[in-house]
Amino acid sequence: MIKITVTNAKGGVAKTTTAINISCYLASQGKSVLILDIDPQANITKNFLDLRMGSKTEGLTMYDVFHKYVVESKKNIVKQVIRKTKNSDNISILPATLKMEQFKDSIFLHSKERSKVLGKILKPIQNDFDYLIIDCPADLSVYVENSIDVADYIILPSIFDFYSIDGLSLAIPLIWDIKGEEFENFIVLYTMFNPRATKIQAELEEYSNQLESIDKIFETRIPIDQNIRNSQANFINLMSDPTYKKSKAKIAYEKFGNHILTNWK
Ligand SMILES: Nc1ncnc2c1ncn2[C@@H]1O[C@H](COP(=O)(O)OP(=O)(O)O)[C@@H](O)[C@H]1O
Ligand SMILES: [Mg+2]
Repeated sequence: MIKITVTNAKGGVAKTTTAINISCYLASQGKSVLILDIDPQANITKNFLDLRMGSKTEGLTMYDVFHKYVVESKKNIVKQVIRKTKNSDNISILPATLKMEQFKDSIFLHSKERSKVLGKILKPIQNDFDYLIIDCPADLSVYVENSIDVADYIILPSIFDFYSIDGLSLAIPLIWDIKGEEFENFIVLYTMFNPRATKIQAELEEYSNQLESIDKIFETRIPIDQNIRNSQANFINLMSDPTYKKSKAKIAYEKFGNHILTNWK
């Protein structure tokens, strides 16, 4: 199982959107995908379990997995929590719930090696899927530490603006902190790109070029595209629905998905 973490301490930069679309792309290529929702806000859970606004995740969730592991030392519950999604036969999900928010503190208090918990939890399903896609919250919590620790590859979605690009110079050292400075398997993906904003763009290009990590930026930017919002609002799989065949964001996400499929082994 190749483990891919989608993270950035900033909110609203298309982390969840990226996790959704690469999962759907890999599934459309015949790969089995497990999504791990480690964000207590449970956005990707709502997307894949068709939960309408205001409704809560019923049944077992990642809260139970962490709770049983940390409090009762039960290691094998993760298999029971995996669910099939309505979206695709090839996509399963480990859902999140808001209860995970308070439980962060218990992981901190009760676990000696607090960033190693998830790795141990995932051991029993290590060989059950081709890909694991982890959708992170917009913070640097213990959940994000764990998600970075288990990752074979890390995607950093970022909007092409000053604050987001600047934010990368914080995110990348955090990755190096956890994984060691020799870790190279991360890539920045520019999202919600507006090709018409040419003036500001020229300045940003220069700024972005100065980033040490320039060779870590994926060449195709995901354009801003209303189809993303429409498909999410209607619980539609952008990758397979014929209505969205010509969506520019869909085509860009396909390119990125193909990069993962061919280069990340
Ligand atoms: N390429 C895009 N074009 C237009 N809207 C987008 C695009 N990518 C994401 N969005 C929208 O931006 C908002 C934030 O995206 P989301 O993936 O939830 O970010 P995050 O998980 O980083 O908080 C959502 O409403 C989403 O539909
Ligand atoms: Mg999100």
